[in-house]
Amino acid sequence: MAHLLLLPGDGIGPEIACQVEKILLTLQKEGAPYTWSYGLIGGAAYDQFHDPLPEETLKKAREADAILLGAVGGPNYDKLPRDLRPERGLLRIRHELGLFANLRPAFLFPELIHASSLKPEIISGLDLLILRELTGDIYFGTPRGIVEENGERVGINTMRYSESEIRRIAHLAFEFAGQRRKKVVSVDKANVLEVSELWREVVEGVGKDYPDIELTHLYVDAAAMLLLRKPCDFDVILTSNLFGDILSDEAAMLTGSIGMLPSASLNETRKGMYEPVHGSAPDLAGKNRANPLAMILSLAMAFRYTFSDAKSALRIEQAVQRTLKQGCRTEDIALPAQAWLSTEAMGDAVLRNL
Ligand code: IPM
Ligand code: MG
Repeated sequence: MAHLLLLPGDGIGPEIACQVEKILLTLQKEGAPYTWSYGLIGGAAYDQFHDPLPEETLKKAREADAILLGAVGGPNYDKLPRDLRPERGLLRIRHELGLFANLRPAFLFPELIHASSLKPEIISGLDLLILRELTGDIYFGTPRGIVEENGERVGINTMRYSESEIRRIAHLAFEFAGQRRKKVVSVDKANVLEVSELWREVVEGVGKDYPDIELTHLYVDAAAMLLLRKPCDFDVILTSNLFGDILSDEAAMLTGSIGMLPSASLNETRKGMYEPVHGSAPDLAGKNRANPLAMILSLAMAFRYTFSDAKSALRIEQAVQRTLKQGCRTEDIALPAQAWLSTEAMGDAVLRNL
């Protein structure tokens, strides 16, 4: 029996996690071999344990087969020492579980073509995958900190990647591209950064093992531009932690709303943590107005990647598509004069279409 750990977190996290639980309940009643339990992370965990990733949560996470996370962070916690902030809990769980591969697919549901701020002819058919390295780079490099130097403060972070870290994420990019349109664009800043110079060299080397995959390279600034100009040219975008963070928010907007984008973070054994790309949206929290679809689509990814159950994954994705086809919208994806549903009602609509 597989076990899922739900970590609703902060802000809109608990509301969207509720919608996912409804789906889990339905599947379980039908006999799906899954159980789930809850844990605390982020600000919610800080409030109870003064730790954004309590030992108990980490233990449960290690024992679970997959983790579903809502979102972390909120204005109440912004003044805390950095180590106690909600975001640190998220970064720590990624690191502790070795979740080095972050998959962020940006797919345009044709029903939402008018919700994007880009022209329909530019985004029609959009289907790309950002593969972001998630446990290295400037996010984790040391030395880091704010130090005193010559009578003033200096902020320091260190961008670093080892060859082996680059190699393992590059292999995955080529493998995923093999199941898609066979194109990898590796994004770096090799015209300025040594880290990127090494990145490019190692990715080139790995590419030799995959002669049927087309490999090209882009500097991150050019990639940001092309993502808006010709987004449909992209298949798999392979990139580092920081650049992937930035480009994935940009890619999200192509699909109409960041409320639509799921993600999977996998380790070497394909254990995964699944979370929407969006944040905790404190302004929407508790108002029953958030879009639960990114979280629901993240559950679909859990079925696909950790449970190797493509059938259930597809079933959830098709339920979402049917719901959109029926005209159901949350506020973020509704057109100006269009009526929209609450978080709860959207969750129920998907459930009816399951
Ligand atoms: C994301 C988020 C996180 C990140 C934050 C909340 C730490 O922006 O998952 O994209 O920067 O990785
Ligand atoms: Mg981000």
